[in-house]
Order: sequence, then structure tokens, then C-alpha cells
Amino acid sequence: MRDYVVVYINGERHKISGEKAFMSLSDYLRYEKSLTGTKVVCSEGDCGACTVIIGNVHRLVGNEFSYVPVNSCISFMHILDGSHIVTIEGLKDSNDQLNEVQESMARNHGAQCGFCTPGFVCALNTGIENHLKANNEITEKRIKNCLTGNLCRCTGYQPIIDAGLDVDLKSFVHLTDKFKSSDIIADLQSETSKEVLIKSSTREIYLPVKLSDAIKSHEEKSHTFISGASDLGVLHNKRGMKPNLLMGLHNVEELYQIQKRESDVFIGARVNLHQIEEQLKDEFREFVHIIHIFASPQIKNRATLVGNVANASPIGDSIPFLMVMNAKVILIGPKGERSVDINNFYKGYKDLDLKPSEFIKGISIPYYKENEQVKLYKVSNRKDMDISLVTFAAKYQVKNDVISEMQIAVGGVGPVVLRVDKTEKELIGKPFETSAFEKAGNILKSEVTPIDDVRGSAAYRKVLSKNLLMKFCAEQSLSTNAGRA
Ligand SMILES: Cc1cc2nc3c(=O)[nH]c(=O)nc-3n(C[C@H](O)[C@H](O)[C@H](O)COP(=O)(O)OP(=O)(O)OC[C@H]3O[C@@H](n4cnc5c(N)ncnc54)[C@H](O)[C@@H]3O)c2cc1C
Ligand code: FES
Ligand code: FES
Repeated sequence: MRDYVVVYINGERHKISGEKAFMSLSDYLRYEKSLTGTKVVCSEGDCGACTVIIGNVHRLVGNEFSYVPVNSCISFMHILDGSHIVTIEGLKDSNDQLNEVQESMARNHGAQCGFCTPGFVCALNTGIENHLKANNEITEKRIKNCLTGNLCRCTGYQPIIDAGLDVDLKSFVHLTDKFKSSDIIADLQSETSKEVLIKSSTREIYLPVKLSDAIKSHEEKSHTFISGASDLGVLHNKRGMKPNLLMGLHNVEELYQIQKRESDVFIGARVNLHQIEEQLKDEFREFVHIIHIFASPQIKNRATLVGNVANASPIGDSIPFLMVMNAKVILIGPKGERSVDINNFYKGYKDLDLKPSEFIKGISIPYYKENEQVKLYKVSNRKDMDISLVTFAAKYQVKNDVISEMQIAVGGVGPVVLRVDKTEKELIGKPFETSAFEKAGNILKSEVTPIDDVRGSAAYRKVLSKNLLMKFCAEQSLSTNAGRA
């Protein structure tokens, strides 16, 4: 049993224990290591100023680190066990000079006050490295996509985009070449094969290696689980939430898997949204499209599907899809596994069908049946990197010119994501026609129960719900031969 975690920072080994293990990565870098190039602005994952680059031993590609950008302000040292962290200081070349991305930022006037610049450089550097590895051309669209998690108040963005497009790709040095990682990886693999228990004066974190140890310990102590910390990190920084007993499944290797089985896809508790975006394009294209507009690359490299489900937000973007798919939440505890239909998992606002001794092992999503169609919408005030106002999912089948199956889930219109049974029933047996949807839309407006909040009024959300149903009708009528309207 270790009482420390191990990370490498810019190629140097660091063993971290006690109170320091509970620090955010940005604080650790700035206050413990004087690596002040990493900046902090919002402390809640929104602005990207704190972006650093991470490779983790549980997410190797071949025998190499797969480097990705993450927000250091909402990442804690304890859950970074087994990571190689590269900061803006670690990007400079072997002669202590700016690297190709930094050079290009300077050449294209991509920085004014400079506060956002280290974050932009880290995001650009990983975006370019990963596109080059995938043999993708560096296009403006790709540069913009890799910058969706970074805000700049000075430049107006164009010089930064220009800098991304102007990087000298022939001289660009990949981080996998710059840091000879085989020794680092061997060391981290050896360390992460041992469980961790770190105690500070007020808190403790347990990182088991075996699922059986996680079950045993959780039965004894009833921990708060932490995964990507993209919800918990914000609650920690903004609301002072500091659970006494934490458990992270970060070193339980089997939970990093997406298993494409005969009748379903199993997504382990440590699978992040980036993995889903990459690996499930063929199986769940619509869902991957929604994940594409979910948060930012930095968040998706940390946030897990299980975290989104367990967080139980009525505007959790994955939940409407999982509901219409009748996905199963796979719970595990001392009595073994229990599978709960996600439609029965939410008993009220943040109230889950989860016993104190249980935790979530993963999510199982059945494949589409033949002729089933799925459509998903997310409406937010801003397209990228914004919390949803209303989310909408529909799965349906048309047989003999009438709707034979219709499942609809709407988020942001009640204390939990709602399955709207009355609206569904109204549509079943009807032709796929505007008049049928118009009537069902009025039922939908009375079935949802939104409240006013900063993002939109209850009245607006009701209208939006109906409008999404009508949009779904119009689009599906056009794109398939489902409708005759
Ligand atoms: C800037 C920003 C943008 C965001 N954008 C979006 C967005 O567009 N759409 C959206 O839906 N969400 C968004 N979120 C919210 C968040 O990213 C997601 O909810 C994410 O999926 C949470 O996953 P996580 O792994 O980070 O969970 P964590 O923060 O680690 O945990 C979340 C909850 O899940 C519980 N939990 C974790 N693992 C388990 C387990 N195995 N068993 C039981 N409980 C568990 C935790 O105890 C906690 O209650 C955003 C967050 C930020 C900071
Ligand atoms: S400081 Fe804004 S995302 Fe971390
Ligand atoms: S250069 Fe000032 S915030 Fe971007």
C-alpha cells in the first residue's frame, strides 16, 4: 500500500503525499514548483487559461503516452497518479528556445496581455501533435475545434487561429519524441499497480487497484467517488465541497474499457467522453455528435460518462440519449452486480436508486434495433462550451406508415430528465405527420415542468420543448421517408 501518488512533470519524477495530494494541479504547479507559466482565471474549467498537457499510463496508445490538454484548476494531484504532466515551461526546445507553436504565436501576434497564452499554446500543441499522428491535415476547422475550451479577451481569436495554421510542421517536435518515455512509463506502471491510501489531517483518498478491494472498502466506509472531477472540482473550488472520504477508480485497469458485445456496448466507469467520441462513431453516431458539442476537449479528456450519469443533472447531456436507448446502469456492491434501467435510476432531484454500499461499474447501451431511428438535440445559448437550456432525444420506428414505437426524453424541464409518456402515447399508431406532432406538442408543453433560471424562463423552455418536437418531425420527414407531411 502506498501513501503517496507519483507523477512526472516535464520529465521529472514527483512523489506527493499528505495535504499536497489534495491540491489542485494548478496550485501545485504554481505554489509548490514555481511553474507560474500556468495561469488561473475562472477556476471552474471554463476559460482554459490553466490548460496543461497530460499523458497517463492507463491511456497509452501502443507503448506511448497519448498527450491531451486538461484544465489544471479542476484536476487534483491524487487523481493524477500515473501521469506525465507537461506544462508551458516543458514545451521549450532543447536549446531553451520557444518551440514551433510558441514561435508561431509570437510571429502572428497571438498574444496581447498574454494571460490566456500558455493555455492556448498547450491546447494548440496537443491538437497539432494528435492531428499529425492521425495523418490529418491541419485545417482552420481543426484548429478552431481544438481551441473550443480556451477564451481570450484581447486578441479577437483570429491571430491565434492564424498562429495555429502557421506552425512550421516540418520542425514541430512531438512530445512523444521530446520526452523519452519508456522509463517513465515503466516506473508509473509499477507504481500504479499498488493501491494508494493518503490521509491528510481532515481527508483521505483511496485508490484501489482491484474492483474487489473497492467494493470491500466502500462497504466499510461509504466513500464519495471521484472520477474526472469536472463536476466535483468545480464544487470544490466554488462551493468549498471537500468530502472527507474519497475513492477514485483511476488504477482499476478494467474500468477503462469500451466493450462492444453482442447485444450491447459496455462503457466502464473510467471511460471518458473523448474515448466515446473516438470509438463509438459507427455504433452511436447521433450520440457522438452531441458529445462533439459537449464542453471542451479539456473537459472531455477528464469527464466520464459514469460521472455525467451519477451527477444526475436534469441537463446532463448524455442522459436523454441513454433514456431512450433504455441503457442500464450497472451497479456493484457486496452483493454483486445489479442492473437498473436508467429510466428508473432517478427517483427525484439528485436522488438515485443507489444503495450506500454500491457504486457504478459502468453503463450498458443496447444497439439500435433494425429500423430504429434516433434523433438528439441540445439547445444552449452558445453552441460550444455551454450548459444546455433544453435537451431532447427521440427514438422511433415507423411500420406500415404509422409510428409503431416512440420514446422521447427531455432535459432541462424538470427536476430530472423526463420521459414524456403522454406525448409518446399520443404519437404511437399515428402517421408521421405534422398534424399528429402538433397535437402531441401541446401535450408535451403541459407534461414538462420547467422552472425559471438564469439561462431561460419556464415559459421559454415549454415552447422550446414543443419546437424541438416539431423540428424533429420536420427533419425526420425530410431525411427519411418516415413522414408524408
Ligand atoms: C467547463 C465545464 C463544462 C461542462 N459542460 C458540460 C456539458 O456540456 N454537458 C454536460 O452534461 N455536462 C457538462 N459539464 C459537467 C461535467 O463535465 C459532466 O457531468 C461530467 O460527465 C462529469 O464526469 P466526471 O468524471 O468529471 O465526474 P466527477 O466530477 O468526478 O463526479 C461527478 C459525480 O459522479 C459521482 N461518481 C463518479 N464516479 C462514480 C462511480 N463510479 N459510482 C458512483 N458515483 C460516481 C461523483 O461522486 C459525483 O457525484 C461541464 C463541466 C464543466 C466544468
Ligand atoms: S482557470 Fe479557467 S479553466 Fe482553469
Ligand atoms: S491575450 Fe489577453 S486574454 Fe488573451
